[in-house]
Amino acid sequence: MHIFKHSAELLDFVRHQKAQGKTVGFVPTMGALHKGHISLLEKSYSENDITICSIYVNPIQFNNASDLDKYPRMPEKDMEMIKHCCDVVFLPNNEEMYPEKPSEEYDFGHLDKVLEGAFRPGHFYGVAAVVRRLFEMTEPHNTYFGLKDYQQLLIVKSIAKQCNFDINIVPCPIVREFDGLAMSSRNLRLSKEEREIAPLIWKSLNNAAKILLQEGIEASKDFILDTFANNPSFKIEYFEWYHPEKFIPSQQSDEQFVGLMVVWLGEVRLIDNIIIKK
Ligand code: PAJ
Repeated sequence: MHIFKHSAELLDFVRHQKAQGKTVGFVPTMGALHKGHISLLEKSYSENDITICSIYVNPIQFNNASDLDKYPRMPEKDMEMIKHCCDVVFLPNNEEMYPEKPSEEYDFGHLDKVLEGAFRPGHFYGVAAVVRRLFEMTEPHNTYFGLKDYQQLLIVKSIAKQCNFDINIVPCPIVREFDGLAMSSRNLRLSKEEREIAPLIWKSLNNAAKILLQEGIEASKDFILDTFANNPSFKIEYFEWYHPEKFIPSQQSDEQFVGLMVVWLGEVRLIDNIIIKK
C-alpha cells in the first residue's frame, strides 16, 4: 500500500497511473473503519485498477466540538483492515486540506435546509468543502458512498454537478451488524446496555415501513413516535418519509419512499434509513 500525506505527490501518482490507462476508484472516510467502509473499498477494488482510501477527520463538518473531540481515531488498526482492498491511503492533515479557510459557495436548494441540514447547521458545507478538495486531489473515475448517509449522497451528487466533476458516484448498500444495527464508527461509544437496545432503530424502521403501506404515512409516524416515547433511553431527533429522488416529504400516492431517522441513544447520535418501493 502506498501512503501519501501530501496531495501534490498523490496527484502525481494518480495522473501517472491514469496515463497508463488505469482506472481509479476513491473512497473517502473519516477512519475508525468498520465493515461498512470495507464494503465500499472492496467494491472499488473489484471495479478499478487502483483504489484510494482517504482517512481524514474533517473538523469543519462537525457542528459540535465535543463530537469532534470524541470521534474515534485509530489509524494503525485502520491501515491493517484495508490492506486487502486498497492500493493507496491518503492521510492529509488540516494544513494540507485547508491552507486557507474555505470560502467557496454552493447552492444545494432545499437539500441542505431539511433534516440533517436543519439539525446540523454548517455540516453539509463542511462535507462539500472536503469532498470537493478530495475529488480535486484524487481525480478518480469512480467514487463510492454509503446509502447510510442518504442525504450526504445527494449532496455529493450536487457538488459534482456544481463543480463539473466528471466522476461516477456509486451508491453502496448499508452494512448492518447481525442484529440489524447499521454499522457506524459511533457505535463504539455506546455502553453495553445501549448497544443491546440499539437494534430497535432498524426494527422500528421495518415496522414503520409495513404500517406505511397498510395504514398510511401518519400512522407509521405515530408508531415511531410511540415506540421511542416508550423507550426513554432513546431521544428521537427526526423521522420522516421522503421521496428518494426529489427529497421532499412523501405523498401517500408515491411509488417509492425513504424513511429517514436520527435518534440519540445516551450521548450518541445514530442515523439510519429504509428505502421501500410499492
Ligand atoms: P464516514 O462516516 O467515515 O463514512 C465514509 C463512507 O462510509 C460514507 O460514504 C458512509 O456513508 C459510508 N458508510 C458508513 N457506514 C456505513 C455502513 N454501515 N454501510 C455502508 N456504508 C457506510 O461520511 C463520511 O465519513 C464523511 O462525511 C466524508 C464523506 C468522508 C467526508 O468527510
